[in-house]
Amino acid sequence: MANGSVLSYVPEAVPAATEAHARTTLPIHHERHLKVICIGAGASGLLLAYKMQRNFENYELVCYEKNDDISGTWYENRYPGCACDIAAHIYTWSFEPNPSWSSVYAGSEEIHNYFHRFSKNHGLSKFYKLRHLVTQAIWDATTGGWDVEITNLVDGSKITDHCDILINGAGVLNTWKWPEVPGLHNFKGNLMHTANYDKSVDLKGKNVGLIGNGSSAIQVLPNILPDAKRVTTFFRGPTWVSPVKNVVMDQYFYTDEERHLWERDADAHLRYRKKLENSLNKVFPMFLLKSERQQDLRAGMTEIMKSIIKDEELEKKLIPSWAVGCRRMTPGVGYLEALVSDKVDISYGTIQQVTEGGCIGGDGKEYPLDVLICATGFDTSYLPRFTVIGADGVSLREAWAKEPRSYMGVGTNGFPNYMMITGPNSPIGNGAVLVGMEAQADYICKMMDRWQTENIHSFSPKAEAVDEFLSYKDAFMKDTVWQQECRSWYKSNSITGKVTALWPGSSLHYLEAMMEPRYEDWDIKYSGNRFSFLGNGFSQTEVDPTADRGYYLRNEDDGQYLSRGKRRKVFSKAGTWTLDGPVETVSVKGDSNGAGSPISTESSGSPPAEVEEPNFQSSTGPSGYLANLTSHISTAFGVGNSVSSKRRLPTGSGFNASSARDAKSRKRGEAARSGNSQWEGVKEAGAGGKKDKDELIDNALVEYLRKGTRV
Ligand SMILES: Cc1cc2nc3c(=O)[nH]c(=O)nc-3n(C[C@H](O)[C@H](O)[C@H](O)COP(=O)(O)OP(=O)(O)OC[C@H]3O[C@@H](n4cnc5c(N)ncnc54)[C@H](O)[C@@H]3O)c2cc1C
Ligand SMILES: NC(=O)c1ccc[n+]([C@@H]2O[C@H](COP(=O)([O-])OP(=O)(O)OC[C@H]3O[C@@H](n4cnc5c(N)ncnc54)[C@H](OP(=O)(O)O)[C@@H]3O)[C@@H](O)[C@H]2O)c1
Repeated sequence: MANGSVLSYVPEAVPAATEAHARTTLPIHHERHLKVICIGAGASGLLLAYKMQRNFENYELVCYEKNDDISGTWYENRYPGCACDIAAHIYTWSFEPNPSWSSVYAGSEEIHNYFHRFSKNHGLSKFYKLRHLVTQAIWDATTGGWDVEITNLVDGSKITDHCDILINGAGVLNTWKWPEVPGLHNFKGNLMHTANYDKSVDLKGKNVGLIGNGSSAIQVLPNILPDAKRVTTFFRGPTWVSPVKNVVMDQYFYTDEERHLWERDADAHLRYRKKLENSLNKVFPMFLLKSERQQDLRAGMTEIMKSIIKDEELEKKLIPSWAVGCRRMTPGVGYLEALVSDKVDISYGTIQQVTEGGCIGGDGKEYPLDVLICATGFDTSYLPRFTVIGADGVSLREAWAKEPRSYMGVGTNGFPNYMMITGPNSPIGNGAVLVGMEAQADYICKMMDRWQTENIHSFSPKAEAVDEFLSYKDAFMKDTVWQQECRSWYKSNSITGKVTALWPGSSLHYLEAMMEPRYEDWDIKYSGNRFSFLGNGFSQTEVDPTADRGYYLRNEDDGQYLSRGKRRKVFSKAGTWTLDGPVETVSVKGDSNGAGSPISTESSGSPPAEVEEPNFQSSTGPSGYLANLTSHISTAFGVGNSVSSKRRLPTGSGFNASSARDAKSRKRGEAARSGNSQWEGVKEAGAGGKKDKDELIDNALVEYLRKGTRV
């Protein structure tokens, strides 16, 4: 042992070739040096940096980032109106809340700042190198690692680097593309793509053209309208526009009072986040073609779109025959209203040609333009922009020429020690995205841990595991709205192709699928004897003088459950929630749990101040048939009742409702752990309560799913 200290037994890097031998001289699970390269420092790269810093010792991580700044999407997309399409409070890491969001659909700059703060809070800047473009990665079977070529974009010099494990965090919506329109680059005015928007271009008094009606265009149109003289919008197909007002969630600007409440009271904020997340996680059934939610949503949205458009011709062009959600929906804050404004011309059909001074639309008319904005999306083929050569000299471009072949969104056969965050068939449109990325980063860390503590040379998913995963996925997708005939990036921008972007299931489904790696699906190669990790017969505990060598002795069996069912009840906090919201807790004076003080609103001398939870639905809601429709749609989205209800949130000195809730939760958690689950009780609470449609649908769904039937 170096320096004679038992703690310094961890040697520096052990070369892979001699590793198996070296391990036999060391205690079990010796943590050898691990070098990781990540491509990109967007949300994915930053998350990986955070997770590695938290979980590993004896490692090096470099995230090479081509841009001048971090956060990818939210640095690049700065077009007018670019914002989050779900409530920003649930577009955060599960462990890094942000009480200060300005509004429900926070703008891209604010989201960019969130990722900056995340980086600063955890000292992540040491992990990334900006203005460094990865241009090539080649698998080296001898060393069991990747040779990576990088271009320094400041001086153009080439750098080579080597790593044990290569992570692709390059983003699926990162390669923006111009539309294939004749003459596009002959245009003499300002030509811009939304993902490369030039904010210095003043639109005041200008004739502006806008190509597309996808998520970006839906945000751009209402936001350029006040400045532009006229806007001509060119689109060639229908799209669902989800109305927000009174339906999904209105755009809403939080008050200082609300923000301060959440800054002071993390539990109140957590309750709010959980309500939003629970609502979002109820949405998944709408993606199943025949579900009642899909039918409701479709009927309701059709009526609402018609009520704003009020023009039969435009209705025919804009309201799709395909299901809602076939391509990603964006909350259309003000889009339809802008579309029917007097300042907007609509040119429908395939653009014939762009000229020096304008654009000849599908209608054969030439529209003079000063500025042309292309909201025309991205290359979503998943083929990397740089060369990736895996085992046997096969390039990823060749291997994926027919279709991207991922293993559960994180790996692919033939490319050892290569993993992806948001690879093909990830839950990028199934619910909240960031939590799915966390599941991927956790999975990747588990693979890294195995590599670091055993003499693994390489690991890659078996080809047959990938084949079977893809075949399961394709079968599942047949019953989903995503497989309908709409052009969508979920199907690599095709109309009838396979669904290549999304996970076959809900976001919650993905979290459970990824919780435990199925090592049997991985082809694992060792350097030498696979049992070398057993080392010299000593445990690391024995050489750590600070460790308790009898750590397993205890007063009761508090170990993790050994069945998935029971573990699930623990992690999902079964018994703490009803289908309508958290289990209501009354004051629990003298709670025998012993945790915290007796709790009630009366327990402090002064009465608590009261702050209202934000009310997202306008107080002057719709009436008559529209009210019915909006309630149907709210139901289909799983929001409305639960999110919009005005509630008085007690706050102020002495009040400790969250501890009350925690105490109750702990009790329920214990009941669940002891096998006396309150799940049945939760169901009863739901069924015995208010019987509105939302609840009936939820109950029906739960019953349906519990029978083991596929929806
Ligand atoms: C306009 C827009 C709005 C969106 N809105 C939402 C939303 O509201 N909700 C939601 O859930 N999702 C949204 N998304 C999806 C969004 O992309 C993801 O939520 C998430 O930000 C992806 O993070 P990422 O790090 O995986 O990818 P990115 O953010 O794309 O980051 C990838 C990074 O890798 C870098 N990179 C790529 N190639 C190389 C290379 N060869 N060398 C070096 N660096 C490289 C890029 O420069 C980039 O910084 C939106 C996407 C777009 C385009
Ligand atoms: N937070 C948000 O709200 C938000 C905002 C923007 C983007 N996003 C994410 O980014 C994804 C991509 O969105 P996006 O709007 O940038 O791209 P997109 O959804 O792929 O839409 C591209 C649009 O450009 C049109 N188009 C492409 N080529 C064309 C051509 N040659 N001629 C005419 N029209 C053409 C498409 O028309 P066709 O449909 O007819 O092909 C479509 O309307 C979204 O699905 C979403 O996941 C989210």
